[in-house]
Amino acid sequence: HAPVDVDLSTLAPGQQIVVVWQANPLFITRRTPESLDLLKSPALRAKLRDPDSKVLQQPDYAANWHRSLVPEYGFLVGVCTHLGCVPTYGAGNASAGQRGYACPCHGSKFDIAGRVFAGVPAPYNLPVPPHRMLSPTRVRIG
Ligand code: FES
Repeated sequence: HAPVDVDLSTLAPGQQIVVVWQANPLFITRRTPESLDLLKSPALRAKLRDPDSKVLQQPDYAANWHRSLVPEYGFLVGVCTHLGCVPTYGAGNASAGQRGYACPCHGSKFDIAGRVFAGVPAPYNLPVPPHRMLSPTRVRIG
């Protein structure tokens, strides 16, 4: 599979674009400062099944609190880890700057870094694809 290069320069804070990578939807988000703060909040972490993503679902360089190379941008394979539906962006508490994901099939919920909430069918966090920044506003996926 060829890597996919994506221009991030038109992505507004809080916005998501979806590209196709390896025949799957690939979610790219630009995170707001509020959503970054929330990713670190103990209150949110307490609700997650695997807040530190110990079950490996990301490259080593994304094994951090924001699950990406740079906090401002998130990259997630948009396939629910339950049975493969495509989660919808924008669920969650938007007023707190948090726009996570909800799966339309059986109700699994994920935060904006793709971490699954406890008590839903999806067993794992959404996978983070290999990625590297070619410039501050250009990324190579794969
Ligand atoms: Fe997403 Fe079942 S496929 S919750």
